[in-house]
Amino acid sequence: MIIGSIKEDLTLEKRVSITPESAKNIIGLGLKVCIEKNYASHLGISDSDYEKVGVEIKDSTIEVMNSSNLIIKVNCPSDNEINTFKEKTILIGMLNPSKNKNQITKIIKKNIKIFSLELLPRITRAQSMDVLSSQSNLAGYRAVVDCVAEFEKAVPMMMTAAGTVPAAKILIIGAGVAGLQAIATAKRLGAIVSATDVRAASKEQVESLGGKFLTVEQTEDMETAGGYAKEASEDYKKKQAEMMKDALKKNDIVICTALIPGKPAPRILTEDLVKSMKPGSIIYDLAAEQGGNSAFSESGKINIVQGIKVIGVKNLMNSLPLTASSLYAKNLFSFIRNLYSRDKKDFNVNLEDEIILKSLIKEV
Ligand code: NAI
Repeated sequence: MIIGSIKEDLTLEKRVSITPESAKNIIGLGLKVCIEKNYASHLGISDSDYEKVGVEIKDSTIEVMNSSNLIIKVNCPSDNEINTFKEKTILIGMLNPSKNKNQITKIIKKNIKIFSLELLPRITRAQSMDVLSSQSNLAGYRAVVDCVAEFEKAVPMMMTAAGTVPAAKILIIGAGVAGLQAIATAKRLGAIVSATDVRAASKEQVESLGGKFLTVEQTEDMETAGGYAKEASEDYKKKQAEMMKDALKKNDIVICTALIPGKPAPRILTEDLVKSMKPGSIIYDLAAEQGGNSAFSESGKINIVQGIKVIGVKNLMNSLPLTASSLYAKNLFSFIRNLYSRDKKDFNVNLEDEIILKSLIKEV
């Protein structure tokens, strides 16, 4: 059986799905791997780096498509790429089915099984395949690095003969995967860090990383059985806004990561709240592509409001495509290892396996 991968549209996506390391692991399962020529040359990885571990290089997309039983990609294929798919191929990627309904419908009509790794259940066995965790972790780290680069003051406390510079204060809204990594990174840089989340369970995690948890008093349980957040009630939103009023005045940088799966990003920072920050402050909105947690945030733009920079993130993984690719390729390898039966020498779409069942797109 042959696993193939074609180049992504480099104007949108710099990550790749196969690295030489993951190719070696896939080949170790008894599978073959082929890729399009110059597949990862934009990342400084040459075709010969792949050939050294046994990957076959093809001259074109169509040659990869014709040779492969299973295609791995980062993003959903374009219409042109869909036309090149053979029937009964398997496709694995981060296909964002709610956004790419038309393409997904076309692919399913070609009798192609599609697995989208954002749909994986968040169970222990699927952790090594969890693309949302691997990529969001990096997003949390990168958010802090970007903010520090934009911030016009030093972050750690500095004691010098000339005087003492106080540490910057960073507030993280949403303490999920990205938020917790942002807390850890901001602490490492010497910031004074606080965080808030609707899920009471996150308090302990924030504190274990050295952050101060800002609690919004509540009576209802805001966590679903699956560990995700529920949408906040009007009463909660009011209390959260009160708490924010005070917190925003004191903080220099706010990193927004609040997310409710399948819903637009919750709007937490209103125009008035944004304007209550000091000039020179930064709001970094990781949720900008889902509508934004903050007023004035626009994906791919930096808007300056009364001296406050509101940064709306877009395609953040393109800022660290090598690390993001390395982790994504490892996630894919783990998924393929679970899907492939070495005894049958075939892919085994076993719908009794929760991982396979939940990640398979049946319809859109
Ligand atoms: P996650 O689901 O692990 O964490 C989100 C957290 O927000 C949860 O802990 C949840 O309880 C909390 N939350 C929900 N509503 C809230 C509210 N009203 N107030 C306070 N907290 C609230 O999500 P993850 O993976 O950490 O992603 C965070 C954000 O970063 C998402 O918007 C995601 O799409 C974005 N992201 C963007 C990337 C990019 O390249 N632009 C890459 C990775 C993540």
